Amino acid sequence: MSSTLQAAVIGLGNISSVHIEQWQKADGVELVAGADINAEAVAKAQDAHGIRGFTDWREMLDKIEPDVVSICTPPAMHREMGVECLQRGVSVMCEKPLAADVPDGEEIAAAAREAEAKFMVAYCHRWHPTIIAVKQVLDAGTIGRSLMFRCAFAGWNIFSGNHRASLKLAGGGALMDNGSHAADIYQYLLGRIANVSCRAGTKVQDMETDDVAIMIFEGQNGCYGEIIVGYSLPGSHTEFRIIGDKGFLRLDDYFAGPVKIWLRETQQWSEHAVPAGNRFDGEFAHFLAAVRGETELLSTADTALHVQKAIGAAYEDARRKGVPVS
Ligand SMILES: NC(=O)c1ccc[n+]([C@@H]2O[C@H](COP(=O)([O-])OP(=O)(O)OC[C@H]3O[C@@H](n4cnc5c(N)ncnc54)[C@H](O)[C@@H]3O)[C@@H](O)[C@H]2O)c1
Repeated sequence: MSSTLQAAVIGLGNISSVHIEQWQKADGVELVAGADINAEAVAKAQDAHGIRGFTDWREMLDKIEPDVVSICTPPAMHREMGVECLQRGVSVMCEKPLAADVPDGEEIAAAAREAEAKFMVAYCHRWHPTIIAVKQVLDAGTIGRSLMFRCAFAGWNIFSGNHRASLKLAGGGALMDNGSHAADIYQYLLGRIANVSCRAGTKVQDMETDDVAIMIFEGQNGCYGEIIVGYSLPGSHTEFRIIGDKGFLRLDDYFAGPVKIWLRETQQWSEHAVPAGNRFDGEFAHFLAAVRGETELLSTADTALHVQKAIGAAYEDARRKGVPVS
């Protein structure tokens, strides 16, 4: 590997703009190429960023031999692309979720365990400043033992026609897409998930996947959790709170903070400051440090596989629909 890392992006849709920007501004990285099956997207990226464009991602790997690759395609392609990159010794920043289903996720995780190259899953909220602040409060023991976790990432987004509307391409809708972020945040803050229940359905939009879902679960530490997601819920419903036995914390503004804390003992509110920065800068700096051998990856194929299993189990429970009420 040369000291300047050659980077390439597979999938030149919506989220690729974040990856392109991050590779372009990172020290010691040169963004050299991009691939997409959509020739128009390839031409646009070539013109805008002066990179080499390909409509066949394998041809790009053959010709460019990059050191690091972003996978920004729909989840159903992550297995094939991720495993092949790892087998070629290419480190991967793969967009979340890990895959469209658990078997694909297992295959990626097995390949990642075998490989010397790094495989990170872009669960970017682990680097979101307000979540870092929440973690500081929890780790300090301020609110005591966590009893209840609640995270809502819901609003109104028309996704008919998008890959998120296709069961085959996405593996699920709002729960797979945003619920996986919430489940990963829970894992990062409070540990693994032990069991789940769920309702998920297609309520408003013309799509094969869920546009409204609610998942409740129990963590291995005994904390109960609730995740609310939806593409078809008018307004914006970003809520975040954790209740412990000594008090509770909440983020009224998930994006800017502060973390508000109320304690049983003092019956007073206080605020915990949010560090500066943005989640994508933190995420890419962390990945590059891991590729350079300076740190261990925080978001791996294995941690993402746990989320994949929790979401898969939630969909399984949603199909059962619980205990009928007569
Ligand atoms: N971390 C985040 O906050 C975040 C935000 C948005 C999307 N995502 C994730 O990123 C991934 C992509 O989402 P998006 O919104 O950018 O989707 P998108 O539909 O806008 O873009 C996907 C691109 O992949 C291309 N593609 C499909 N099959 C391909 C193939 N075989 N070879 C090359 N290119 C192919 C499509 O043509 C399209 O341009 C998803 O897994 C999604 O969950 C993450």
